[in-house]
Amino acid sequence: MTQDELKALVGRAALQYVQPGQLVGVGTGSTVNHFIDALATMKPGIAGAVSSSNQSSERLRRHGIPVLEAEAVPSLPVYIDGADEIDATGFMIKGGGAALTREKIVADLAERFVCIADESKLVKQLGAFPLPVEVIAMAAPQIARRFAKLGASAALRAGVVTDNGHPVLDVRGLAIADPLALEAEINQWPGVVTVGLFARHRASLCLLGTAEGVRTLRF
Ligand code: 5RP
Repeated sequence: MTQDELKALVGRAALQYVQPGQLVGVGTGSTVNHFIDALATMKPGIAGAVSSSNQSSERLRRHGIPVLEAEAVPSLPVYIDGADEIDATGFMIKGGGAALTREKIVADLAERFVCIADESKLVKQLGAFPLPVEVIAMAAPQIARRFAKLGASAALRAGVVTDNGHPVLDVRGLAIADPLALEAEINQWPGVVTVGLFARHRASLCLLGTAEGVRTLRF
């Protein structure tokens, strides 16, 4: 199976965690696109979605699925999203699609985070994928210097501005031994909007697309 077929497989499999008539939190990316397409086939359908990006909102609306503002929703039963890396305890790197801030906000509203990913995303230790960090532009050089002190190198993602109007730094060379501690540390730095380490907001479970079918990892 191709990587895209594995993404489609888990996108469809995620439907078992969505109840008709309920709200669902929807992430961003090519795996989530398959989930949104599957969601559109649900009969009876969901009440609506809270989306983590303009891109996902547009796709949901094209399918006729109502999109609610996060401000109007106190909680969600489930949030479905992809990941750039996930480890065996459910910690993730996210933000390859630059949607990390809204992804963390919608994940925070949800009782359960269901990660959908093809098997290439499962890693022993996070950090081979460059860690995305959304920042306030004027703080970017200072934040890059802070990463340099940790032995890593941060570079602005060329031509990218988030849905919130901010740039994204991609940080290479971090071996992330303690995701909770590193997330807490980076969150203290002035000018950091969101770090794409999802440690406090790790996955509750992961549907992993493999050549043998969907593997469910529970954390
Ligand atoms: C977007 C994300 C995505 O979940 C992540 O990049 C995975 O994307 P894909 O499903 O296309 O592999 O964090 O900001």
